[in-house]
Amino acid sequence: MVNKNEITITPLFANPLLQIQLDLDTDKLTELAVQMQNKDKKGRAGIINKGGWQSNNIAEEPHEEFKKLKKEITHYLHLYQLEIFQGVEFKVDVTQNIDNMWVMINEKHHYNDWHTHPYSTLSGVFYIQHDGVENGDIIFKHSNHPETEMLYWPSTVKSHNSMTTGVLNITPKTNMLLIFPSWLNHSVEANLKNNSRISLSFNSQFLPEKTNG
Ligand SMILES: [Fe+2]
Repeated sequence: MVNKNEITITPLFANPLLQIQLDLDTDKLTELAVQMQNKDKKGRAGIINKGGWQSNNIAEEPHEEFKKLKKEITHYLHLYQLEIFQGVEFKVDVTQNIDNMWVMINEKHHYNDWHTHPYSTLSGVFYIQHDGVENGDIIFKHSNHPETEMLYWPSTVKSHNSMTTGVLNITPKTNMLLIFPSWLNHSVEANLKNNSRISLSFNSQFLPEKTNG
């Protein structure tokens, strides 16, 4: 008989998702996002956004509430990194650094196609204004989708879990932060409401830690 202690079960090629509600002043952040859009009407042309406005890189924005948000994101990136990169070894000490942040304002009927965030390690999104399911869910796709659809499940299966599902919808809330690996495919459903969906996305990479000397 096999000793139970000899068995290991590893979630191979996992795609962990961090989700947390923050407590930032989203009215101030909304004001800032709208000001940015008014100053730079054209914004950055995105390939994946179908309609909507996207800012250029605002990682160095000096606005007080924005700096607070960046600090919070950095904090959770570090926590997440410690958890998911356990066992990864580096030749020098490294830390996660946000290298790109951008605001997106999606009006009615705007949506974002399936995409990943190449050339970065961890990515995420913070919701400055989100008003429920009709404002558009974010959807994550299993790395092996649509092959996952070919699995046999009995007709009696009632619901799937995060490993067996092909796609996973999350209905964002204002002040919600999500962090995920940059290679995880995701998309944003169309905004069906008249009010804007305002979010801030970011990419981060490993950089060698600065040393004193
Ligand atoms: Fe994205």
